[in-house]
Amino acid sequence: MSESTHGMWSSRLMFILAAAGSAVGLGNIWRFPYVAGENGGGTFVIAYLACIFLIGVPIMIAEIVLGRAGRKSPINTMQDLTARSGARSGWQVIGWMGAIAGFMILSFYSVIAGWSLAYLFEMASGVFVGAGGDFASAQFGGFTGNVWVVVGWHSLFMLLTTFIAARGVGKGLEATVKCLMPALFVLLILLVFWAAISSGHFVEGMSFLFAFKTDQFSGDSMLIAMGQAFFTLSLGMGAIMAYGAYLPKGTSIVSSAVTIAVLDTAVALLSGMVIFPIVFAHGLEPSAGPGLMFITLPLAFGQMAGGQLFGTLFFLLVSFAAITSAISIGEPAVAWLVEKVKVTRVTGAIAIGGLAWLLGLGSAFSFNIWSDVTLLPGRSFFDTMDFVSNNVILPLGGILIGLFAGWFLDQQILAEQLEGTPEIVIKLLRVLMRVIAPVCIFVVFVMTFVG
Ligand code: PHE
Repeated sequence: MSESTHGMWSSRLMFILAAAGSAVGLGNIWRFPYVAGENGGGTFVIAYLACIFLIGVPIMIAEIVLGRAGRKSPINTMQDLTARSGARSGWQVIGWMGAIAGFMILSFYSVIAGWSLAYLFEMASGVFVGAGGDFASAQFGGFTGNVWVVVGWHSLFMLLTTFIAARGVGKGLEATVKCLMPALFVLLILLVFWAAISSGHFVEGMSFLFAFKTDQFSGDSMLIAMGQAFFTLSLGMGAIMAYGAYLPKGTSIVSSAVTIAVLDTAVALLSGMVIFPIVFAHGLEPSAGPGLMFITLPLAFGQMAGGQLFGTLFFLLVSFAAITSAISIGEPAVAWLVEKVKVTRVTGAIAIGGLAWLLGLGSAFSFNIWSDVTLLPGRSFFDTMDFVSNNVILPLGGILIGLFAGWFLDQQILAEQLEGTPEIVIKLLRVLMRVIAPVCIFVVFVMTFVG
């Protein structure tokens, strides 16, 4: 099949922007700095980078290959490819697991993205101008503690996501990423310069990110680094596979995947370079957890000249980065509904957005009325969604995708999709996909869960 029925990216650049839009999101700007902070900084970053390039890139290539070869939603693509390859139908679990992970991720993602939307307006209103650290912490606590407010912003974000998804691949997804991604990059670079110049703690921030120190790198840290690599690259649940289905023929998958991974890594590291110097400049804790971006950055913007405008713009872009990711999280399920139940794109988007919204209420409640409720031992509803999807389902999906593409997919199909790639690169990729990535993921799992 040369085209998808859902639409196509109009060029290679648009695919890269869309996939980078999926990859670059809250995972980079909100989650990366705080998990790096909680897990010892530099050592974590090194483990994370190893996971991105040794495991993430090969799995991303595998997902795009599968997506473009099937040209359908991940569930139907897997059905199609297992049939064409004479493989067991059990491999279709990849598509189903992905759909489940997608719901879980979209549900809590929307809650945090809602915070970003709210902070956009808070910054604009000027409440942080001249504020100190205690005020910023109290503001965040008061905000997340109010169930109506949190649910309201979660609802608004989900509505926006549903609206864009409903407009389809060209008018919705592509039109959105085309405007927002370049803007995000420009602003982030400006912010790094500002942090470097005005915080006075740039070196401290950088050495926290890059210095090799093992004391806070706990037993779980390796699993968290791996989960973060999957999460930040949008891998293991079919989002990239769905986007690959809309990739025109003849564009190089390998170089696209490398570009996407490099862009994503750059945004994560640049976000760290903005946030950590500010953290140290204001005597805050780098391991503040999920509140890091919502406490330290408003504080910093409140201190800087023009910070009200600049901070507003920053949270606008964080919100947009979140939207370009959220639409990709929902895409596998929306596309599947359209194919399977033959509903329109609009109905499909509303159904998926609505279900994810409902599940998201649990995460919204975790910060207020359900703050004492735990699902997994010691983990709130929100933490459970986050942990199970990122650290369990995504890596597991990754193992299966690597093994399927490397061993069970008709290798003729793989060769066609990778046409034009130098033979040596294909050989290396095979080893990574077939052996290195699955074994690494497996070993991290066993190490974490067995002891
Ligand atoms: N990669 C996105 C981020 O970093 C999150 C995401 C996960 C998107 C899984 C799609 C699929 O914010």
